Amino acid sequence: MKSYCSYPLIFLSLLGSLNYFCFVCGADPTDGFTQVPLTEANIKLQKPYDIPLSERYSFVNGTHKMWVYADDKPHDPKSATQPRTEIRITGLDYSSGVWQFEGYGFVPNGTSGATVAQIHGAAHGATTIILRIYDGNMRYYSGDLIATDMYDKWFRLNLIHDVDGGRVSVFINGEEKFSTHDQGPGDLYFKCGVYAAPRNISYYMESRWRGIKIYRK
Ligand SMILES: *[C@@H]1O[C@H](CO)[C@@H](O)[C@H](O)[C@H]1NC(C)=O
Ligand SMILES: *[C@@H]1O[C@H](CO)[C@@H](O)[C@H](O)[C@H]1NC(C)=O
Ligand SMILES: *[C@@H]1O[C@H](CO)[C@@H](O)[C@H](O)[C@H]1NC(C)=O
Repeated sequence: MKSYCSYPLIFLSLLGSLNYFCFVCGADPTDGFTQVPLTEANIKLQKPYDIPLSERYSFVNGTHKMWVYADDKPHDPKSATQPRTEIRITGLDYSSGVWQFEGYGFVPNGTSGATVAQIHGAAHGATTIILRIYDGNMRYYSGDLIATDMYDKWFRLNLIHDVDGGRVSVFINGEEKFSTHDQGPGDLYFKCGVYAAPRNISYYMESRWRGIKIYRK
């Protein structure tokens, strides 16, 4: 009978070492951050100006689905920018501190040359970071490779902007994949959806997003 007593002890010590292992290797990108309340009022849609939202956006079962065509109009008749259907997080613009965007994204095979998430605003240029999908790979603008084989699967994106430290980091499925300098402070805000790149774009572009959260430190 006495030997049975050791089983829970072995189990507990195993659990303890697992916890230790997770603590050492599995830090979550949101550790040390505080979630900022986000409501529908913080979600503003941008879409081709001459088309009703329902023709480029749906919100079903918690998933925002956004799509756009290469020959769509810009979001504003006065703008000369590429077509987009994007969520612009509004009411949570920042200019200092450490901020984080989290969301679960999905890009269908075929969508290429599309910015699927970005931090808008900078001291130099219009954006701090642009995450684009080209042929299933995620790139920093059209340059550095961040992640591969992204089509047709949900991925968790965590985008951390340390404005005071001047750095921005990209986590895919909890793993840090990329980090670089930012472009200086400005009127900063997060976006996700589809925004056509200047070149190498597919005719149809789509991304889906769910579980969008904003955190700060
Ligand atoms: C709704 O989303 C949940 C996951 O959050 C999923 O399990 C379920 O199958 C979805 N339902 C439909 C009708 O898509
Ligand atoms: C995407 O679709 C193309 C054409 O149907 C196919 O050749 C390719 O293997 C697909 N890629 C992935 C990652 O499924
Ligand atoms: C864009 O397409 C050109 C050729 O059409 C190619 O050389 C270039 O590598 C492509 N760029 C990206 C980012 O895929």
